[in-house]
Amino acid sequence: MAMENFKHFLVVLSVAAAAGLVSIIFVLRWVLHFREGLAWDGGPAEFNWHPVLMVIGFIFLQGTAIIVYRIPWTWHRSKLMMKFIHAGLNLLAFTLAVVSMVAVFDFHNAAKIPNMYSLHSWVGLAAVILYGLQLVLGVGMYLMPFTPASWRAAFMPLHVYGGLFLFTSIIAVALMGITEKLIFSLSDPKYKDSPPEAIFVNVLGLLLVVFGALILWIATRKSWKRPSEQILHTLHTDGGVEDSSKVGPALSQLSDVPNEETCGDVRKRSCKLDDQPN
Ligand code: HEM
Ligand code: HEM
Repeated sequence: MAMENFKHFLVVLSVAAAAGLVSIIFVLRWVLHFREGLAWDGGPAEFNWHPVLMVIGFIFLQGTAIIVYRIPWTWHRSKLMMKFIHAGLNLLAFTLAVVSMVAVFDFHNAAKIPNMYSLHSWVGLAAVILYGLQLVLGVGMYLMPFTPASWRAAFMPLHVYGGLFLFTSIIAVALMGITEKLIFSLSDPKYKDSPPEAIFVNVLGLLLVVFGALILWIATRKSWKRPSEQILHTLHTDGGVEDSSKVGPALSQLSDVPNEETCGDVRKRSCKLDDQPN
């Protein structure tokens, strides 16, 4: 990555990290200061695990997993190691989302509130199920050594699109959840009267939008992609990869599609190298 490009990357990454971390602080303050706190007792404090674990796991950890290949100081690490980190973070995000769903179902059943009546719950459950599918297919395609390279390449556009679509949908689901929770729980004064909790939690929603927008920006810049293994190998033997800022723009352009995808075009030779789970 050229120096100028590297600086832009650092700025966007820092703002994204700040928005994500502040969102976590905000959701914790919401449930601990404005709401009933956290507990596992079938009551409202059990419900509160739902937004907390969704923001930490399904939004922050998933966003991190998505951009982990893009971080230049990981480029000297093997592709296999980065796949494990990407898959591991996604698995952790999924696990926290499932625990968060158990919390809300448990709370609903204990309080005799019906399940699955809202648009939030419909889109949310669909996202969790499809995310589980994406995880299983990701492991099957990119971690199983016997999966043919041609399958990996053919599936990569769907994997990337599916991942970005799910991440975006999950932010939208969180915004719906936040809005309905504020409408349900603020009574005197009401949501429409803008009490401090409403303003505070609206800001949480804005932070999630900013975090999502920046993660999508990072994940869609061609010049910020992890270079192919072949190029990294060449640089490594030349001693160039230690300083990632020296990786020039020409390099990034050579590798402007996900590595597994390069099999589809004239760069067939580099595909063979990249698909080795090395
Ligand atoms: C309920 C998913 C985030 C608030 C539900 C339910 C699902 C779900 C499937 C239905 C549970 C049941 O019927 O018993 C998700 C997903 C999220 C998310 C995938 C990922 C971001 C949030 C957030 C809030 C929230 C951030 C903010 C407080 C609620 C509320 C309910 C609920 C109030 C109960 C009412 C209803 O069923 O719509 N959520 N949720 N959710 N969620 Fe979320
Ligand atoms: C790339 C999402 C699970 C392997 C990507 C990208 C996204 C994504 C958005 C594009 C990143 C970029 O262009 O830099 C997801 C989601 C998952 C998931 C949401 C879970 C639900 C997995 C799993 C594996 C995997 C389990 C298995 C190792 C890969 C590989 C790439 C990739 C090899 C290409 C990286 C590159 O060459 O630049 N994933 N992924 N993914 N993912 Fe996943």
